[in-house]
Amino acid sequence: MTRIIVHPAQGPLRGSVPVPSDKSIGHRALLFGGIADGLTRIRDFSRGEDNLSTASAMRAMGIRIDDISPTEVHVHGKGIFGLQAPTADLDCGNSGTTMRLLCGVLAAQNFSSVLVGDASLSKRPMNRIAVPLRSRGARITGAPHAKKEGEITAPLRIEALPEGTFLTGLEYESPVSSAQVKSAMLLSGLYAHGTTYVREPYVSRDHSERMLQAIGAPLRTMGPIVELDPSGWDGKLAPLDVDLPGDISAAAFLLVAGTIIEGSELMVRFVGTNPTRTGILDMLRDMGAPVQLDPLGDRAGEPIANLVVGYAGLNGRLFGGETVARAIDEVPILCALAARATGTTIIRDAKELRVKESDRIATMAKVLRAFGVTCQEREDGLEIEGTDKPLSACQVNCEHDHRIAMTAAVLGLLADGPTIIEGAEVIATSFPKFVATLRALGQRVDVEE
Ligand code: S3P
Repeated sequence: MTRIIVHPAQGPLRGSVPVPSDKSIGHRALLFGGIADGLTRIRDFSRGEDNLSTASAMRAMGIRIDDISPTEVHVHGKGIFGLQAPTADLDCGNSGTTMRLLCGVLAAQNFSSVLVGDASLSKRPMNRIAVPLRSRGARITGAPHAKKEGEITAPLRIEALPEGTFLTGLEYESPVSSAQVKSAMLLSGLYAHGTTYVREPYVSRDHSERMLQAIGAPLRTMGPIVELDPSGWDGKLAPLDVDLPGDISAAAFLLVAGTIIEGSELMVRFVGTNPTRTGILDMLRDMGAPVQLDPLGDRAGEPIANLVVGYAGLNGRLFGGETVARAIDEVPILCALAARATGTTIIRDAKELRVKESDRIATMAKVLRAFGVTCQEREDGLEIEGTDKPLSACQVNCEHDHRIAMTAAVLGLLADGPTIIEGAEVIATSFPKFVATLRALGQRVDVEE
């Protein structure tokens, strides 16, 4: 167990810092590289634990992944039918993306597999993947969910497809905007005899579509609909050669800290600014923060930019719908912004937060109250009263959720004494150098093992 102690802001945050590369894109580069034909080179690869879970699952299925340097990996792809039966359960750790995307590929194999995860992943709903995959012929079962009748969770067991049978085409209208669901349907569609259509309420992050298209998958998008039609396709994916963009979901913690600590001005470099991910930038601007975006072209088919923010007076706002869908992982840190705004911030249409690494609506309500911030929990979001007073220093249990731990650290900068965050080792899931980055920006954070 690691605890971090965040001291009240030692002064403004100033400087220019990088962030780890985008975790979502990293998963896809490893997985798609493994089923492509030939050598995929991935640079600026960050060794967050979630990405390492995908790498070790691919290795367990016979894919050679070489660590060339601390930030470069090479994946020796063996084609879409090149995976081997794993000899043990595939451990997805804390990573929902690893588990759900792998299901799409494993559903079509002629070997069986079992996917397991940590305590948090073993509470997350998996019917959203299993039900549509079964409807195209996959044989996938899970453990009954402890709290939701009829729901299943990890461990998941995926049976080999009987010889001579194939997954069928699929027309799927997903009730939730979810890139994990969409990606699993598209990956299974690569193996299907028939066309895959996926429709979602709002376009979720489209990294899979961009990368699959770039490596030759027969895919096209039409607004919220993606179509993958393998008829006439040669079944080959080209290897990738990519520099990964920085993770806007990691950058968000620093951008918010730079906005709420008086006198701050900071730059986060080389951040991915794919429009399906930039909801947090719109929210910052809407609340009054002057976010400057200096575009730097493309990396891995994704736009990147340096982002600059400074301290600003903020106003409470109402957020919901499409903006929240484009900032689904940033809602916890949005709550920290709301805690410093004048008036009330209302967050709606965020019910999906209840099934993330923790129930982020309930967990954030607890954390905000521990800091002395008034808030109301709603079924699909939160209402938060901002304050300009120092927050109450407190002790936070981050419930094994990296984004809750980092949000609490940012709130701790506004507190009237040292804030203790228990279980902070989970931050390594996505941002192993988070504490070092806060220190580089002039803040005092102690770490105790
Ligand atoms: C992800 C999709 C999102 C997001 C998660 C990463 C991805 O989950 O919350 O952190 O890489 O596809 P959902 O698909 O459940 O919305």
